[in-house]
Amino acid sequence: MYQPAPERYSEMEYRRCGKSGIKLPAISLGLWHNFGDVDVYENFKRIIWKAFDSGITHFDLANNYGPPYGTAEKNFGLILQTDFSAYRDEMIISTKAGYDMWPGPYGDHGSRKYLTASLDQSLKRMKLEYVDIFYSHRPDPETPLEETMGALAHAVRCGKALYAGISNYPADLTERAAQILKEMGTPCLIHQPKYSMFERWSEGGLLDVLDKTGIGCIAFSPLAQGMLTNKYLGGIPADSRAAKPHGALSPDRITPKILQKIEGLNQVAERRGQSLAQMAIAWLLKDPRVTSVLVGASSVKQLEDNILALKNTGFGNDELNCVEQILK
Ligand SMILES: NC(=O)c1ccc[n+]([C@@H]2O[C@H](COP(=O)([O-])OP(=O)(O)OC[C@H]3O[C@@H](n4cnc5c(N)ncnc54)[C@H](OP(=O)(O)O)[C@@H]3O)[C@@H](O)[C@H]2O)c1
Repeated sequence: MYQPAPERYSEMEYRRCGKSGIKLPAISLGLWHNFGDVDVYENFKRIIWKAFDSGITHFDLANNYGPPYGTAEKNFGLILQTDFSAYRDEMIISTKAGYDMWPGPYGDHGSRKYLTASLDQSLKRMKLEYVDIFYSHRPDPETPLEETMGALAHAVRCGKALYAGISNYPADLTERAAQILKEMGTPCLIHQPKYSMFERWSEGGLLDVLDKTGIGCIAFSPLAQGMLTNKYLGGIPADSRAAKPHGALSPDRITPKILQKIEGLNQVAERRGQSLAQMAIAWLLKDPRVTSVLVGASSVKQLEDNILALKNTGFGNDELNCVEQILK
């Protein structure tokens, strides 16, 4: 039977999420890949155990994580029930709706109909009474923002979620969404943008809006799905995301030009005494506006490697300049 490590809160850093009462671990775990029915239960169960033992209190899901869709929530629910029923109050669990989930006009995008039904389904799959954060997974240009934000506020008011979040919203829409949610009495807790050394759109205004409006930021795909590690330097390993038919990383993206940047970054990381994965995480955490870095992992070893990023999150100007030169 699983017994959490008694010292689990001693090494992790916790950062306040915007201007809320919630603190999140500097490193959180996402279940987009590696936790579906195509994956190995014993392996992902151990990843969840390792995460919790290391002070990772935040687990991020979405309705359609798997594959097949829904199975990451189902599997996580099973692990929660078996091993974590006594620890629910020590965990922040999030889910989302906004992308394709079921056929027909009510299983995608941002309507109140879709978000409300999807959250009910997520709670059933995870066997939970509530999630801590419910997100609108992406903006929907065809649904009034008031309707989508109203669905999040409704989820909070009826106790199915404790906080509202948004993901993939550009800076201007984020500002409007934050205002609407505030007027509805349900402040936006958090924004989840794609953010890494290879994906920096959030630096063009979003981070400033989050800072100004007191919303936290959790950076997803911080390792660019594994490209910001040393794993692709010697070719595409057979068990990597780029090699899997259901992986979301097309092997065409690992071009000679990208490999050259990865090689350069890897050398900077080595000089810092870190793995490239650790440096990529540390590089995000250097910005105090980033509340948490949301990593994925296909093994306990990867998660252990990633958590060690916290041992060195400081950067000298020379290192930062060197990184910028490589990324240019
Ligand atoms: N809101 C959204 O729209 C959205 C979209 C995408 C993701 N997310 C969230 O963000 C989370 C993380 O996304 P992600 O999985 O793309 O994150 P990531 O951390 O950029 O990539 C994770 C992958 O990198 C590889 N990896 C991780 N640590 C490694 C290490 N130390 N050494 C070598 N390889 C390592 C593994 O790939 P292999 O499988 O190749 O081993 C792992 O599956 C998701 O689970 C989800 O919760 C949100």
